Amino acid sequence: MPEDLILIKFGGSLITNKSKTCSPKYKIIDGLCKAIGDILLQGKKIILIHGAGSFGHMKAKKWNISEGIDDLNKEFQYAAIKEIRSDMEKLNKIIISNLAHYSIDSVVYSPHKNGKGLGIDYFLNKNFFELVKKNNVVVSYGDVVDCDKDQKFGILSGDDLCELISNKLKPSHVIFAIDGALGLIDDPNLPGGGNLIKEYTIGTKIVTNEVSNDVTGGMNLKLMRAKNCFKMGSRVSIINGNNPQMIINAINGKEFIGTEFFNQ
Ligand code: IPE
Repeated sequence: MPEDLILIKFGGSLITNKSKTCSPKYKIIDGLCKAIGDILLQGKKIILIHGAGSFGHMKAKKWNISEGIDDLNKEFQYAAIKEIRSDMEKLNKIIISNLAHYSIDSVVYSPHKNGKGLGIDYFLNKNFFELVKKNNVVVSYGDVVDCDKDQKFGILSGDDLCELISNKLKPSHVIFAIDGALGLIDDPNLPGGGNLIKEYTIGTKIVTNEVSNDVTGGMNLKLMRAKNCFKMGSRVSIINGNNPQMIINAINGKEFIGTEFFNQ
């Protein structure tokens, strides 16, 4: 396991306003990019995956992109796919240029241009591994991708990419930076919104709320992917990305507010 490879996922709700189409949270993105700079200074290599938030979920939901081709609406669907892919590239450029603002060079792996397949069946092209070998920061994201199944296309979540990458590259630490909670919550329906689980033991059942506007699996998918990253040998943490110092602390082995995964 390369000691210095860190995989970080910025959740879409963290970096965009989910209620307004294509609305980035510039200040939050800036704080996170600055933190990436701090992590790099410690000699780490970073794979950064970002979600879609309002750059992807709304149009994807409107045209049922995650369900695949619908013959009655396919022209609208293909138009929407074009728009979503271009919106995702816009969000990606915002992140890349914000990294550049902190003199961080990064390269991008576009999922739809380089591979196909849904979920963890997505084929991660060898270009990806070459980019990781040659660069300190590789950025990729959730996307609309083609597939060989009858459905022809669907959504690849950034969380799926995290599991795929963990499987192949065994990063030393995988961090899911989220919004809306300090980490995993035991039961969001409890009075006060539930309690933070600081130490999550794999296999413990927790209650997650369905996020109706998401075309990917929301917290349920994230938890499943996070568990699998952990099972493959990476350290895994779920941390609120609104306080990027917590991400830095976690990587440095210092105390942080969030959830750390443990074995039974
Ligand atoms: C979703 O990716 C991609 C699209 C909807 C195009 P993610 O599943 O990684 O996005 P977030 O983090 O939930 O926003």
